[in-house]
Amino acid sequence: MCIYIFSCLEKLDSITKKHSINVANLVKKFSSFLEISSNDMYIGALLHDIGKLYIPQNIILKKSKLTKEEIDMIKLHPEYGMKFIENTSYKDNEIICNCIRYHHLKYNGENSYPESSLIYNDIPLESRIISICDSFDAMTQNRGYNKVISAKEAVKRINLEKGKQFDPVLVDEFVKFLS
Ligand SMILES: [Fe+2]
Repeated sequence: MCIYIFSCLEKLDSITKKHSINVANLVKKFSSFLEISSNDMYIGALLHDIGKLYIPQNIILKKSKLTKEEIDMIKLHPEYGMKFIENTSYKDNEIICNCIRYHHLKYNGENSYPESSLIYNDIPLESRIISICDSFDAMTQNRGYNKVISAKEAVKRINLEKGKQFDPVLVDEFVKFLS
C-alpha cells in the first residue's frame, strides 16, 4: 500500500479504516478468483468509504438507531469521496472513481445512492464486485453498532438479494469463491 493511501486511511476512524482494508483484501482475492484482478480495483476498494471523513464522527460511530437525517447524511459519503479524490492524482482513474462513486448502487436500481440511472450490467463491474464484498464484510465483522453474523448466514442473505441488490452472476461466483 503506498504511503499516500495509508495516510488517507489513517484519517478515518479505526472501524472504517479496518473495514476498508478488509474489503480491499476481499476484493483482491475475489477478483483474482474471477481472473480480473487489478491494482486499481484494490486502491478503489481501500478508498471506497473515504468520503466518511466529511461526516461527523458521532454519526459514523453512533451505536443507537440513526435518525432519517443522519441516514441521509451518511448516504452522501460516495459523493464526498469523489470530492476527496478530485484533489488527488487518482481523479482521472475510472476504476478507482467507480469504486467510490458507485459502491452503493443496487443491481436493480432500487434504493441506490447516490441517485443514478445505472442499473444491471450498466453498473461498472468493479462497483458490482465491491458492493458484494462491502456487504459481506459489513455483516461478518464487528463495526461497533451491528449484529455480527456468520459467513454462512451472510452468504444466505447475499443470495436472497441475488438479482435485486446484487449482480446474480457475481453472487454465484462469490458463493463458489467462498466455498
Ligand atoms: Fe460505503
